[in-house]
Amino acid sequence: MTGVDADRYQLADRNISRIGYGAMQLAGDGVFGPPRDPDEALAVLRAAVEAGVDHIDTAQFYGPGVVNVLIREALYPYPDGLALVSKVAARRDDSGAVLPYDEPHQLRAGIEDNLSTLGIEQLTAVNLRLMDSAVPDNRFVDQLGAMIQARDEGLIAGIGLSNISLAHLLRALEFTEIVCVQNFFNLADRKSLPILHECVAREIAFVPFCPLGWPRLQHEQIRTDPVITGIAQAHGGTPAQIALAWLLALAPNVLLIPGTSKRSHLAENLQAGTIALHPDQVTALTERFA
Ligand SMILES: NC(=O)c1ccc[n+]([C@@H]2O[C@H](COP(=O)([O-])OP(=O)(O)OC[C@H]3O[C@@H](n4cnc5c(N)ncnc54)[C@H](OP(=O)(O)O)[C@@H]3O)[C@@H](O)[C@H]2O)c1
Repeated sequence: MTGVDADRYQLADRNISRIGYGAMQLAGDGVFGPPRDPDEALAVLRAAVEAGVDHIDTAQFYGPGVVNVLIREALYPYPDGLALVSKVAARRDDSGAVLPYDEPHQLRAGIEDNLSTLGIEQLTAVNLRLMDSAVPDNRFVDQLGAMIQARDEGLIAGIGLSNISLAHLLRALEFTEIVCVQNFFNLADRKSLPILHECVAREIAFVPFCPLGWPRLQHEQIRTDPVITGIAQAHGGTPAQIALAWLLALAPNVLLIPGTSKRSHLAENLQAGTIALHPDQVTALTERFA
């Protein structure tokens, strides 16, 4: 195991806390435009770092540009050890639609845009976020080539993959080291479980996105389910904390980036690491949403 203790894990050249922060919720509705409450958005970022968060997940296409600019305004000059992780392969049009931006030269431009708006010279990791799960092999290999070149030139410390299949991961590993996989995964949706298992075996960080459920119905299901609320009560915690604690209990390489636009939820999410679920509770949660 690469992590130095149960609370931390290796991500590229950093050994980071297993609970980080996903900044996507800081943009306006639909992850488009400015936040409804810019002061709170800045306060959330500062509170995260003050509380010890050393892993922030972002993207140039959140806003677009809005979230990276907020991160820079709130935190620059960045504290030592802060891992800034982004993703490329998408852009927004004027209406907010998410469009592919995944030609090799566009991936490169996406990385450079992140560096520029964040005001840094290197990102800890950048995820190649697949927009097309049926991407032809030659195209995927070319995309990887752009990521490898960016890493070899020092623009990024590590290459991640997002929204991928197990086949994509195995194919990518034929060409390069992969430091993280970021896929949709939570109590109620575990389609990426085989990928998590592969990441465990290979000591690759696995970063579940939407750890509290998406869309809203799934989010509400997780927050109101009687098994979860019962376990939450037993721990004096909240359903969101139990959903996060269950993810942490899965494997030591699971790194969390719960997203929120509120300091109250941030504080709650960061405390999830203090909840030690009993193995029977882990089983009950696993079976509940099997
Ligand atoms: N690679 C990808 O394709 C991809 C896709 C989606 C997301 N991501 C990344 O993953 C991160 C996490 O995903 P996410 O933000 O979509 O989903 P999430 O972390 O599962 O949950 C976010 C939702 O839950 C609410 N929430 C947060 N903490 C809560 C709490 N303690 N109690 C109740 N509600 C709570 C948030 O609303 P409030 O603002 O009201 O707290 C928000 O509506 C993102 O921020 C982003 O960085 C990556």
